[in-house]
Order: sequence, then structure tokens, then C-alpha cells
Amino acid sequence: MSPNAPFLTGTWYPVARVADLRENRTISRQVAGLPLLLGRAGTPFVLMDSCPHRGLPLRYGSVANGQVRCKYHGWNFDLQSGRCLHIPCLTDEQRLQGVGERIGAQVLPSRVSAGLLWAWLAHPMRPQPPEQAASVLPEPFDRDPDVYVERTFQCDFDQAVIGLMDPVHLPFIHTSWWWKQPDLHALQKETRHFSPRGMGFVQNDHEIPNPAKPYQLLGMPVRTEIGFELPGVRIELICGSTGGACSLTTLAPIDAQTTRVHQCIYWTTPWLRPLRAPIRRMARRFIDQDRLVVEQQQEGLRHNPPLTLIDGADTQAKWYLRLKKEFQRSLEAAEPFRNPLAPATVEWLS
Ligand code: FES
Ligand SMILES: [Fe+2]
Repeated sequence: MSPNAPFLTGTWYPVARVADLRENRTISRQVAGLPLLLGRAGTPFVLMDSCPHRGLPLRYGSVANGQVRCKYHGWNFDLQSGRCLHIPCLTDEQRLQGVGERIGAQVLPSRVSAGLLWAWLAHPMRPQPPEQAASVLPEPFDRDPDVYVERTFQCDFDQAVIGLMDPVHLPFIHTSWWWKQPDLHALQKETRHFSPRGMGFVQNDHEIPNPAKPYQLLGMPVRTEIGFELPGVRIELICGSTGGACSLTTLAPIDAQTTRVHQCIYWTTPWLRPLRAPIRRMARRFIDQDRLVVEQQQEGLRHNPPLTLIDGADTQAKWYLRLKKEFQRSLEAAEPFRNPLAPATVEWLS
């Protein structure tokens, strides 16, 4: 694994929370090095933020009635289809000759799932998404998140993903009073069973022996199942004696050195609603602890040092790299993805 390894294309990436999209307003976002323009014109849309005339970013233009007018020469584009609707400088003859009819801003396939807008980042071998994309989350959670935190990490995509699935940094990095405070000299053995699933793996459902305080809100005992799928989707389903919750952490590369993290929390227990603000603060604090350490790690990675992934603690990181390799192989060979993992039991101290 080298620093700033390339990220995957031919897959969905999250681009924004749906609740942040407004009619006649646009948001510009870079994803995987591409400048995108997002918004809502009835339904959400994702366009390349570039005028097909002479390349001015469309975000500098004006938006009204489901159209964007480029600032430079006033060409008008439909926000949903990208189709060019009007070119002010055309004479009647040029208009009759059909100049402008085949011109359009580039539209990216998009979809809404789990309260997020996702865009399809094309690969030459997978230019279009599959016809039917399954929902990211199971039914009770496939909606706007109850708590949402978005952060930009100044680190490459691989390190951000591996940081997500690293089970042994918790006692060192997540040191808030409301998180577990284990004795660092007497860490406990954790034994977890994993199964391959889809384009990733799942840490099978198990009871959490000593859950952190936010988990205890759901009523003891608390059980959890943690899934990961390419390119960077971590889903934790939590079930307590009085309610259920889901934590979705999903990542998108902004460029080779920067990664956007979307943290969403959903619950089935209406009585947690008054606790939204403190839970949001905790989620921000938690994500910022991860952000700080991966950004400090980047200082070390700049020198391209040799790295050591060990069995147990780093097994999931090794699986991520294998999955990614298989994904790239399947694209290049134009073959279906075959999950290379097998069921396994993994142990570490934490
Ligand atoms: S660059 Fe957009 S209309 Fe000319
Ligand atoms: Fe963490």
C-alpha cells in the first residue's frame, strides 16, 4: 500500500445529505477529482460543474425554474437532463439549423439512499450503474439521518477507510469520558467472527460485553453487527433491549490527498429525539478524534516509510486491500466481482 493510492471508480460515492439540497440553489463539490454541481430541481441532480461551451464552472451562473444560466455567454441548461435549452447568440437561421440541439452539460447518474445523495463515478468498463441498486440500509433506517456530521480529512482515501475498520485504536484515540476507558495495561481479548458479504465483509452479530455509554441508551444487553463494503461504506446495526440504531459512516475521495466523511446516525426510538444535540456533539468529537490522528499520520506517510500490517488487529485492513484489488481485477477483465474472502475468526486485544 503506497500513500495516496488511487481510489476506485465504477461505483457509487456519497456526495451530500439530501436535506441540504434546496430548490433553485446549487452546491459545488469535488468528488474523485471531478467538479460536481448538486441540487434539487423537483428531484436531486448531479451535473459536472463545467459549461460545455468554454468550460466556465456552472456554479458561477444563476439558477431558476430548474435551469442554470452560464455566467459567461448565457447558455441555459436543464438541471435534470443537462440539455442545452437556449443559446442567446444564435440567429434564427442558426437556430433552425439545429445548432445547440445536441449540446448538453454532463449529467452523472445519481440516487437517494439512507438520506444521502449518491453519484455514480464511471469507469470505462462500468460507465453506468446496475439497473437495480439495493438500498444502502435496511428498511427502518433508509431515511434522513437523525444525526449527521460531515468532515473533510486531509488524508488519502485508503488511510481514512483503514482508520474506520481499525479495532485497536479505540482505547488510545477515543478517550472521551463517555467512551470506554479500558486499562491500557490490561487490554481484554476480543474474539470476532466474520463472513464475506457482497463487496465486503461483516463482523457477525454479537453482544457487546462492556458497551460505551451512548450504546447503553438503547438498553442492556446491546448487540451489534458491523458490515463494510467497497468503496468505503461501514454500517453498524445496534440492537438494545429497548430500541435499535444504525451508524452509517461512508467516505468519498475529494482528491488523492483529501477525503470527505459522512457520518449518519439513525434510531427507531422516538424518545432519543431530545438527545439529538448532545449525540451530534459526541459524533463530531468522535470523528474529529479520527480526523486528527489520520492527519498526523499523513506527516509520517509523506516520507513513504515501510509499513507493517499485522494479523488480528489489521486483518480487516488487509481484507480491504484484497477486496479493492479484486474489484480492480474484475473491472479490467470485464468479469463479475468475486468476493475473495472466507469466513474467519479474528482476535485482538482492545
Ligand atoms: S462558457 Fe458557458 S456559455 Fe460560454
Ligand atoms: Fe476511530
